[in-house]
Amino acid sequence: MNSYRLLCVVVLAVACGMCINAVGAEKVIIAHRGASGYLPEHTLAAYAMAYAMGADYIEQDLAMTSDHVLICLHDTTLDATTNVAEVFPDRKREDGKYYPADFTLEEIRRLRTRERLPRRFPRETQLFQIPTFEEAIQLVQGLNASTGRDVGIYPELKDPSFYKEANLPFVETMLTVLAKYGYEGPEANIYIQCFSPSTLVYLREELKSTLPMIQLISDNAMLEELGFEKIAGYAQGIGPEKKCIEKDPSLVTRAHQAGLKVHPYTFRKEFVPKPYANVEEEMDAFLFKYDIDGGFADQPDKMKAVIDAHK
Ligand code: G3P
Ligand code: CA
Repeated sequence: MNSYRLLCVVVLAVACGMCINAVGAEKVIIAHRGASGYLPEHTLAAYAMAYAMGADYIEQDLAMTSDHVLICLHDTTLDATTNVAEVFPDRKREDGKYYPADFTLEEIRRLRTRERLPRRFPRETQLFQIPTFEEAIQLVQGLNASTGRDVGIYPELKDPSFYKEANLPFVETMLTVLAKYGYEGPEANIYIQCFSPSTLVYLREELKSTLPMIQLISDNAMLEELGFEKIAGYAQGIGPEKKCIEKDPSLVTRAHQAGLKVHPYTFRKEFVPKPYANVEEEMDAFLFKYDIDGGFADQPDKMKAVIDAHK
């Protein structure tokens, strides 16, 4: 057994041992790129740790390989979170960057995932690989079977226009994979998220998907331009940058009036804005003063503690 697989087994064992009841309230904890505050983002280990910490949903950012396999990766490039430059020094594009869309899955398997941020998990490690989307789903569904919980998935279609231009079936393949694992219909335990309104509308109207969807929002102007009623025509909620709510707390009420959930991003203990003393204080204000329905957290255990303190 190689070290990567051994680590997965250990983390899974810890996951089963630590299992905590899912949060009963309607406020949901979304593990941002897994428990990315503790283990490198988008690794099976980070997903298992998030599961063990009581997350209600585990996020997967999606990218696609040249042979049409969906993998879990935040960027459209491999540079920031893998050792690609060392393994494939001759495969960068003219812009100096390495794109997963230029590599087969077999080649992606030769890479090792690295921590993105300083003062977190040691960066120079060979322990982790990039998982496929199917592997991420198998992990969550396997843990659901072994623990009796029902944790959902929260995939994000990252930069769909990039894959459209590359003639890769990014959006369609996601639906095929989801159907293979039983994610179909409005009651499925999933939210599909995307910044691109036209991609979500395409999913809803052209591909006839009835899965729950979240319109990601980068700034207040984008939200006002789109409009709550229009978003409610194709999505079940919005995922605004946290600053949007600080700037205009009324947007939570207005979203609720339109029947939309509000899941802002991203709470992380290393980047806490003023006036909050720590991320717990910030989470508490968003959850119980602004009344959001859940949020993306790099430290899902901290969000669980904040929610549990109100029970
Ligand atoms: O998907 C919500 C949030 O994760 C969006 O930001 O850049 O972390 O994917 P990002
Ligand atoms: Ca994301």
